[in-house]
Amino acid sequence: MGHTRLNTTVHEFILVGLTGCQDMQIILFVVFLICYLASLTGNVLIILISRISPQLHTPMYLFLSNLSFLDIWYTSSIVPKMLIHFLSVKKGISFDGCFTQLFIHLCLGGTECYLLLAMAYDRYVAICSPLHYTTIMHPALCIKMASGSWIGGLANSLIHTIFALQLSFCGPNIMNHFFCEMPAVLELACTDTSLNKTVIFFCAVFVVMLPFFLILITYGYIISSILNISTSLGRQKAFSTCASHIIVVALFYGTIIFMYMRPGNTHVANQDKMATLFYSVVTPMLNPFIYTLRNQDVKAAFLGITRKKEGVNKNTYK
Ligand SMILES: *[C@@H]1O[C@H](CO)[C@@H](O)[C@H](O)[C@H]1NC(C)=O
Repeated sequence: MGHTRLNTTVHEFILVGLTGCQDMQIILFVVFLICYLASLTGNVLIILISRISPQLHTPMYLFLSNLSFLDIWYTSSIVPKMLIHFLSVKKGISFDGCFTQLFIHLCLGGTECYLLLAMAYDRYVAICSPLHYTTIMHPALCIKMASGSWIGGLANSLIHTIFALQLSFCGPNIMNHFFCEMPAVLELACTDTSLNKTVIFFCAVFVVMLPFFLILITYGYIISSILNISTSLGRQKAFSTCASHIIVVALFYGTIIFMYMRPGNTHVANQDKMATLFYSVVTPMLNPFIYTLRNQDVKAAFLGITRKKEGVNKNTYK
């Protein structure tokens, strides 16, 4: 890969990590280990529950388990390496390792942007035209939307990675970040990165801004039709299925837009590391909880599964 290039003399990058403070490393190790395990558990449970329970074989839960599947790989491409680095003196990552991390991170990040849009569209159809829901959200469309999201994420990532591989890295190789993320990698290039920054900005318009605006528009329709529901119980029920989506969308897009939509300014300062922590570690962990804690279907399915295991007839608790 890149390290065979003539002008690149850097074979390895050194990550500064989350903080240089030595005393904090063990505490951060424990905190992130717990976050990582919670994230894996939550997301695996979501996939299992939506597989096992027939009442969750709906577009919303298919997309949600796509999101969980994605989140498992998303955090796994970052956190395990980060955990090792908390305990090591030299926080190095090879050139190929760095670009692999870059590629996976951009691919899954782009896919998540589109999946959140698919989920918003699903809620839009469910709330704004409930009578046509089953004819509009038929399995063939869901598969197209899900595979489209994955292909879109992959294309986005390929473009950025190929452009980044054209750069030369001739030192210094110390990266003020805790994993290889594009803005931090660009800072270390010793050739001109203005083309890369332009490409990032234009791709972000299609991968981040366009889905984000479409999501805002669908939620505009959703909220106005919720306000038109005459019974307050109906309003509450419709709103509770959307509130969790709104929280996830705000957390994820908010930090991504903060990071990637600032033309000309890609300086990775400490507050940028915090923003990155949010969408790469915290959101994937919170997703399962946000979606399930507020959700009666999942609770019922979960209780149904555990009760069945205990040998209680499923119909008795209904
Ligand atoms: C993703 O969504 C598609 C379409 O709804 C579904 O067929 C597929 O099983 C889902 N994949 C996962 C891993 O949940």
